[in-house]
Amino acid sequence: MKINNIDYRTIWPDPANPKIIRIIDQRHLPHRLVIEELKNVEDFAKAISEMHVRGAGLIGATAGFGMYSAILCATRDNVDEVLRTAAKKLIATRPTAANLAWAVNRQLAAVSGDGDLADKSAVLFETAIRIADEDADFCRRIGEHGLEIIREISTRKKGEPVNILTHCNAGWLAFVDYGSATAPIYAAHRAGIKVHVWVDETRPWLQGAKLTAWELKEEGVPHTLIADNTGGHLMQHKQVDLVIVGTDRTTYTGDVANKIGTYLKALAARDNNIPFYVALPSSTFDWRIRDGIGEIPIEERPGDEIKFVTGRNASGRIETVAIAPPATKTANYAFDVTPARLITGLITERGVCQAAEPEILGLYPEKRGTPGKQGG
Ligand code: MRU
Repeated sequence: MKINNIDYRTIWPDPANPKIIRIIDQRHLPHRLVIEELKNVEDFAKAISEMHVRGAGLIGATAGFGMYSAILCATRDNVDEVLRTAAKKLIATRPTAANLAWAVNRQLAAVSGDGDLADKSAVLFETAIRIADEDADFCRRIGEHGLEIIREISTRKKGEPVNILTHCNAGWLAFVDYGSATAPIYAAHRAGIKVHVWVDETRPWLQGAKLTAWELKEEGVPHTLIADNTGGHLMQHKQVDLVIVGTDRTTYTGDVANKIGTYLKALAARDNNIPFYVALPSSTFDWRIRDGIGEIPIEERPGDEIKFVTGRNASGRIETVAIAPPATKTANYAFDVTPARLITGLITERGVCQAAEPEILGLYPEKRGTPGKQGG
């Protein structure tokens, strides 16, 4: 997608030295575009856990390249141990996003056979590139399928703008390209369908205010930033036609873990008869988990993320300021689970389906009878 009219992805190998992997350090957006170079597995683990990169698909792609980076420091004698340690380190960085373990396990499987160090290194590089390309391609296809949902509403509204509410950032910055929730929006905008996006600010990290609003501005998509608690009011006043959100982990029964606050939007949407869709590439399904609320691990992050905010002050300097009494206790749950019954449909790279086991397995028949196995 575009930054200042130039096409970017969120992660790519340095063309002059592919052993170095480049990322957009998202902590500085929307104020500054900072490109960071990752050179060893510690850099990768830090970039994921401290959210230089974030979002399900991008976390997976970063972990894929992280495994490649790890082997560059291995010798013939310790390669298996180096990869095992790197896998453990990367998987521990963020517990909720399914794509993380999925990408790491895919890399481990790719080099599980025979082969010397150079062969394995080449395989890890090729697989990391494949994971990234696939992520971009799957998101592009999610856009094509989701476009039809928006087109139908636009036709019903006789060409009046379709008002779409989204939460957090399931945009291209959360993936390698296109995004999941935003892909249908970009596709509709490019097809000449009038859309307008309500952007939830998304406390405490403010991914909506900082990232989604910036992305939509760069692509010229009309949008309005709203405080997190505004969606219900807008829905009651018929100012929302459709909700599309992303997900960090989805059970094969259709329960969805997404950024904290998503569940409340789903409840409000149900109360107001507004379609609530979740967009995801298949790498975000967890084929082992049946009960989202009981089984999806919910990441808890440092309380200071709630007690401080960072932004640009009037003189243009980036500052972090406290907004709560220093001794106040905090609870910073990063995600919540929306049960399948509140979801109108899932938009995947293979098409749209109901958030229910038979329909999900209908789209992914190769996963039938394989609970207990990570998808790959
Ligand atoms: O904590 P983050 O920023 O990594 O959370 C991920 C998200 O941005 C959202 O939960 C998003 O809606 C789904 S990720 C595609």
